[in-house]
Amino acid sequence: MIPTLLPTYARAPMTFVKGEGSWLTEADGRRFLDLGAGIAVNALGHANPALVQALTDQAGALWHTSNLYQIPQQQALADKLTEHTFADTVFFTNSGTEACELAVKMARKYWYDKGHPEKTGIITFSGSFHGRSSAGIAAAGSEKMTKGFGPLLPGFVHLEFGDHDALNLAVDDTTAAILIEPVQGEGGIRPVPDQCLKGLRDLCDEKGILLIFDEVQCGVARTGRLFAHEWSGITPDIMMVAKGIGGGFPLGAVLATEEAASGMTLGTHGSTYGGNPLGCAVGCAVMDHVTDPDFLAEVNRKAALMRQKLEGLIAAHPDVFDSVRGSGLMLGIKCRASNADVVKAGYDQLILTVPAADNVIRLLPPLTITDAEIDGAISRLDAAASAVGAA
Ligand SMILES: Cc1ncc(COP(=O)(O)O)c(C=O)c1O
Repeated sequence: MIPTLLPTYARAPMTFVKGEGSWLTEADGRRFLDLGAGIAVNALGHANPALVQALTDQAGALWHTSNLYQIPQQQALADKLTEHTFADTVFFTNSGTEACELAVKMARKYWYDKGHPEKTGIITFSGSFHGRSSAGIAAAGSEKMTKGFGPLLPGFVHLEFGDHDALNLAVDDTTAAILIEPVQGEGGIRPVPDQCLKGLRDLCDEKGILLIFDEVQCGVARTGRLFAHEWSGITPDIMMVAKGIGGGFPLGAVLATEEAASGMTLGTHGSTYGGNPLGCAVGCAVMDHVTDPDFLAEVNRKAALMRQKLEGLIAAHPDVFDSVRGSGLMLGIKCRASNADVVKAGYDQLILTVPAADNVIRLLPPLTITDAEIDGAISRLDAAASAVGAA
């Protein structure tokens, strides 16, 4: 008999009942150090007092009105996002997947309105992940996600990650946009080098196509800048955001330049819940933290500390670990042993990490993690690696 919950997830046998900072408490009382943060979502830790306050204040006043009316919290968050980024305008969604839907629609509508309805192609890269909607799975293109779900949304061109020659050949008169994660998350924490992001920007400018960044996982201070692309000094035309921006409350956004958004006129897009007062009240509180230069400096300091300690850990377990990669507090350990075994051994040591493709375990701690918790994480991973190595 089918379970009453549609069985699409392979869930670990833990049930968390409380969260505080970098810690999750299991129903049986055990406390786990959370280096997954709900897959890069709880950017300011669990039950962050400022976020709890923002949410409960708003919950006591008004939950939902719909986008038929003015929503001041939404306006405030759009103003904060545009003040701190390349963007001129923002549309709010409830998830990263919905942000992908709009990013694709926006790029195509842009060219349609410019008198180029033939420009519908979106170039994407192997190992990418953009969500599980029809556009999201067609964009990423991996068989694991698309098999059996055809016919797929047409118009996506899939290239090998890092294949510059293929990219130059693939751009043609039907290309609308290039869509890329500045740091691939699900694909195994693979940062796109700054010079490649710059090269993409140049190519898009030269050929007159739109550049879309998916910063759903790598954005919102995760890499030590407000958005990951800032390290490269270039900006996209359209950007997808989600996860960290809501700190655990479902919230996403598409940010765009005035030019790129020019096709999205009255009635061309909408959402019942997107940008609701609860999500946006929390989003404003998140933005107030992550735009503080002192906060970002701390993320960078702790990222350097964690990376240095991980190098030592990897050197101590050459049979289990291969190397560390990533940016800021978006770190991946490429494993020699099975990444699933390492994640599982971590559970026994009361530490949560997240597997990714390419036999990587992801470390995506709350950005508020303390130095002592970093030390604790290293000793737990050390014990987990010893258990895997001995097995
Ligand atoms: C880079 C990227 N894009 C899009 C998504 C989809 O976001 P959501 O699960 O919020 O729909 C994810 C989720 O993991 C992601 O990592």
